[in-house]
Amino acid sequence: MWFVPFLFGILVATILIWTLRLFGHKEIVHNFMTSIQKCNQFGFQQNSVMLNRTSTFRRMILGQGLRQNSGSIISTLIGMVSSACDQFSTPNVAFYENKIPAKPNEEYIEEILIKWPGNYTKLQNIATYIQWLFPNRMPGTNKDAHVLTDKEVTIFQQSPELRNRVKRSFEMMLDFYGLKLTEENQIQVKKGSNKRLKVLNKMNNHNFLCITRILLALKELGHCKLMRPWMKCLADLIYNKNQLHHAKFSFESFWIDTLDAEDQLYIISLIKNYSV
Ligand SMILES: *[C@@H]1O[C@H](CO)[C@@H](O)[C@H](O)[C@H]1NC(C)=O
Ligand SMILES: *[C@@H]1O[C@H](CO)[C@@H](O)[C@H](O)[C@H]1NC(C)=O
Repeated sequence: MWFVPFLFGILVATILIWTLRLFGHKEIVHNFMTSIQKCNQFGFQQNSVMLNRTSTFRRMILGQGLRQNSGSIISTLIGMVSSACDQFSTPNVAFYENKIPAKPNEEYIEEILIKWPGNYTKLQNIATYIQWLFPNRMPGTNKDAHVLTDKEVTIFQQSPELRNRVKRSFEMMLDFYGLKLTEENQIQVKKGSNKRLKVLNKMNNHNFLCITRILLALKELGHCKLMRPWMKCLADLIYNKNQLHHAKFSFESFWIDTLDAEDQLYIISLIKNYSV
């Protein structure tokens, strides 16, 4: 019944807009409709019928012409609504900015990055957080998480602060898998963590699917340079050291496809060398 509050909101907004129109505040109505459309674009992308209704509605109102008149309190309120819309229309950015918590577990990114590393019991329960930490274009099993949008990708790629947090999330997961990122951005097996690698090798496809998700997120969120070293390390473990042979299917069916053509050729030539 998710649509009940939604419809109620639309009803309230409609009444508000028509009241404003009645009193000649068309400029405010214009701003209001623009911010609603912004929300629509991001929050209700699937519901294009609703989007169309709003646009028709907007045209109807704007067709009447604007009057240079604005009540300042209402303008301020609309400003607040529209900045709230902006924040929530980019939920993945808001999460990585430490402004909203992941759902359903209600934890903020900084809490996660400080408390979770090394807590393998916690990290084992991936379904609840992996989509928040590593968002991509595909919806996953957590209905409270959000797919990544073009707007969000641009924001991530331009923000050193956000990119740094993504890198810390990645390092937390590497540690969970028994790996580590060196200062030269290479990926190695962490000393004394053969047990973690054994756990990873036993893991089912669901967990290997997470690695696909992380690879895709690295690509989108400004860390595509980390993909090749990670795949190099995984290829070494699967084809050379035989410590991660259960991941072979995922490696060949999913992981390799996340790379760009140049990286793919590089990794494939590595594997060929191993089998000689
Ligand atoms: C929404 O409007 C566009 C153009 O006005 C139209 O092409 C599209 O079919 C409409 N979508 C729905 C779901 O009505
Ligand atoms: C690790 O996570 C579990 C499960 O959430 C929690 O009960 C436990 O206190 C955590 N351990 C540490 C050392 O933080």
